[in-house]
Formats: sequence, structure tokens, C-alpha cells
Amino acid sequence: MAIAGFGTSQLRYDMFDLARSADEARRLAKCENIYHRGQELAWDGKDVLGELLAKHGGVHVDERQRKALERVFTIILWGELAAWKISAQLADRLVPLEAKMAATSQAMDEARHFYVMHDYLVALGFKPGRLDRAPQALLDLVLDTDDLAAKLMGMQLMIETIALGLFQAVREAKVEPVLTELLRYYERDEARHVGLGMQFLPTLLAAMSRREGVRLVTFQIRLMYWALTELQLVRDDFVTLGVDPRQIIDSVRKKQLAGLGVAYAAAGIPFDRERNVAAMSLNAVVELMFPPAPAPLAHRARAAWDAFWRRSEPGAADAFDVHRHTIRTARGVVATAADDL
Ligand SMILES: [Fe+2]
Ligand SMILES: [Fe+2]
Repeated sequence: MAIAGFGTSQLRYDMFDLARSADEARRLAKCENIYHRGQELAWDGKDVLGELLAKHGGVHVDERQRKALERVFTIILWGELAAWKISAQLADRLVPLEAKMAATSQAMDEARHFYVMHDYLVALGFKPGRLDRAPQALLDLVLDTDDLAAKLMGMQLMIETIALGLFQAVREAKVEPVLTELLRYYERDEARHVGLGMQFLPTLLAAMSRREGVRLVTFQIRLMYWALTELQLVRDDFVTLGVDPRQIIDSVRKKQLAGLGVAYAAAGIPFDRERNVAAMSLNAVVELMFPPAPAPLAHRARAAWDAFWRRSEPGAADAFDVHRHTIRTARGVVATAADDL
């Protein structure tokens, strides 16, 4: 507590004194780059949504799909607000300058995502209500944790990858023309946000005890439990939108394993070291609840048994390339994938 300039201050005068290895310096330079890329690639939400609505003559979707879009994108809307708040928490709490800059630019992006999604949903003709319990529990876990590693992993590597998998699936299903084009802009930003997790989580992981590492994995499993419960909740809506829920799980898992794989490798921790019964059970639950194709219970049980024992391999870092769409920035520049990280 600070009184009249005495005592501890929230200003970290030691922020430039923190020792860093060559590898850490490289990763922090990438964090700084996230901030500068965020500025260069920022798009004007009012212009982009306005132009898309004009181009397609408003929002066109049949009544059944409109209801499904409402239910799924209510979760996204509040998820964007949570992302805004969480990135602002990180911008405040991360100490190294470069990581703080990356989180700050993310907060700017999430503010844009939130108001544009709100305006889009208004154009769709509905008023967002409260979240169901599962998505709220998922977001609350990350909003409320004081553990920086859990917050960073939960936001950048779990929630962002879920959003990316969902956006990609809805975009590819071409449900509604305005949304299909809009999601390209969202994906480009969210893929950049994953970068902060991949580059800075290793610094936090390296400082952790084995016990803290196990606690982090337990936190991750709680998030996955609520994410699967959430997916079950809107499963029929995805089917209505022409999206296979299992396809989303597989795509999200690929991105999560890629992000976590990079972070654990940089921290020098063998991937999957903290493999435990809860994580193994979750893999089995996916096969029981979301089989790749309709199958009798005996087949699903067999697949669940195999999944329980299967080890997870780190995914490929190019799992995010699919999100680097060409967009028009607020500076009037057309940015291609080559302009990204
Ligand atoms: Fe976002
Ligand atoms: Fe994001």
C-alpha cells in the first residue's frame, strides 16, 4: 500500500531490470511485435460492418437458423466482453513491457469485437440475454483467477482457440453472408492473440513448481469440462447451422495442442508430463458424447477406451495459418497473410 509516496507502489520500477535469457528476449520481441501488428492490422468495425450490410442488403437467414445463430452468438458476444476484461487484467498485471503491450493491444481488439458483434446481433434482430450456466462458468473461471499463468493459458490458449474453431466452422458453413465475411476479420485478430500465450506462458511455466504445474493442468481440465458442457448445450444449434460439433472439437483440440506444445517446449517441460486421469477421462468423454459419426454405444465405448489411453502429441504451429485472412485495415491497406507474424 502506498501513502504519500511512501510504501510499495503499483509502478514496477524494476520492470527493465528483470533478467532474461536469449530465448526469452526473442519471445518478448515477438510479444512487442503483436502490439505493433495489432496497430497496423486494426480494422474499423463501423466501416466494415456497415459496408458488409450494404453489400448484402442486410442480414438474410431463415427463421430456424436465425434462432440457432442467436443462441451460439450470445455466447460469443459475452465471450468477447470477457476477453476484453481479461486482456485488460493482463495488461495491468503482466510486468515485462513487451507482454504488457501485447495484452493492451488485445484489449483494443476485443473492445472492437464486442461492439461489432453487438451491432451485428442487433441487425439480426435480437437483444442479447443472460448466458447459460456452462459458458458462464467457463468465462468466470478465467475472469476470477488470480493466478497469472492460469489466466493467460485459459484466455490465450483455451478460450481463443475455442473461438477460432467455432468461427472457422461457422464461416465455412456459409450460414449468413455478412457473418461469413465478418468472421474473417475476427479470426485474423484472435489468431494474433494466441501468440501472447505461446510466447509468454513459457516464462511463467519455467518459474513454477511441479505442484503448481499440476494445479495448472487441473485448471485446464475444469475449463475443458465446461467447454464440452457448453458445446452439448448448443449441439442442436450447430447441426441446424450445418456444422458438425465433433469437427469443432477436433479443430479446437488441434489448435490447443499446437499452442500448448509451443509453450511447453519453450519452457523445456516435456509435453503431456502432467497427464492424469481427469485429462484421460475427458478424451474418453468426447468419444462417448461426440462420436465422429453416429455409432451404437458399444462402438463408442470401445473408441472411448482407446482415447482414454492415447497420448496427446503437441500439434503443429501452422494450425493457425488458416486464420490469416486478407483484410482491409483502418488505414485503407489490404493486408495479406504475409503481413502477419
Ligand atoms: Fe475477440
Ligand atoms: Fe481474442
